[in-house]
Amino acid sequence: MIFRLAVLGASLVSFLLTYYKQKKHEEKMVELQQQQHKVEDDVWYKFIFITNENSGCTEHLRQEESCGDKCSHNYLQTIRQHVRSAKASISLCIYHVTLATILQELTEAHSRQIVVRVISDREMDYHHASITKKLKEKGIALKIQPDTQTFMHHKFLLIDENTDDKEVWFGSLNLTAQALTTNCENMMYTNNASMVSDFSKCFEMLWESFSDL
Ligand SMILES: *[C@@H]1O[C@H](CO)[C@@H](O)[C@H](O)[C@H]1NC(C)=O
Ligand SMILES: *[C@@H]1O[C@H](CO)[C@@H](O)[C@H](O)[C@H]1NC(C)=O
Repeated sequence: MIFRLAVLGASLVSFLLTYYKQKKHEEKMVELQQQQHKVEDDVWYKFIFITNENSGCTEHLRQEESCGDKCSHNYLQTIRQHVRSAKASISLCIYHVTLATILQELTEAHSRQIVVRVISDREMDYHHASITKKLKEKGIALKIQPDTQTFMHHKFLLIDENTDDKEVWFGSLNLTAQALTTNCENMMYTNNASMVSDFSKCFEMLWESFSDL
């Protein structure tokens, strides 16, 4: 009897421990997945951590509906809101972009007289799903890395980089549905002026050296 109770007690403890660990893990993931930190009064950063558990969200991207905070649709909405907030300029440097939402937002910004510039890779010029040709058709300034032996593999986006509302987005992901739904990826937004400035210098350097599409 005592032995049975001890076994029961031990499995209960083990069950509770597993439950506690799982709970802690989930809390940590939610915390990591989207949070905005205030570093100083007007300086912030927002870090988004995408896990590879979002395969069900492919449909949510298509239908523009959300299944909760961790939905790929929400991540895309975050990018969309930042792009939409631009008042002067948008400078996007991206290896691969296929998302119709991005095409739409950049096109709308362009028609709002925002200066939109995009840098991409030669490889993407040939890719069937790439939106680079469509951007060009809409009159958006586009430059490509001409070399086929190396990749223009950057993924960053500057918004209003020469104003007080400057911010930068950067991370691991291509702007594709796949990156948002099936990969482990990270993205970071910040208005930290020195980080924006570094990315901005990098953008201008590439813009100078690459050719028009
Ligand atoms: C980015 O897109 C390219 C072209 O489709 C692909 O080869 C590459 O693996 C993608 N990168 C990531 C991290 O998904
Ligand atoms: C901004 O970023 C720089 C470079 O990473 C860092 O040294 C600085 O402390 C940051 N500023 C704030 C206010 O977080």
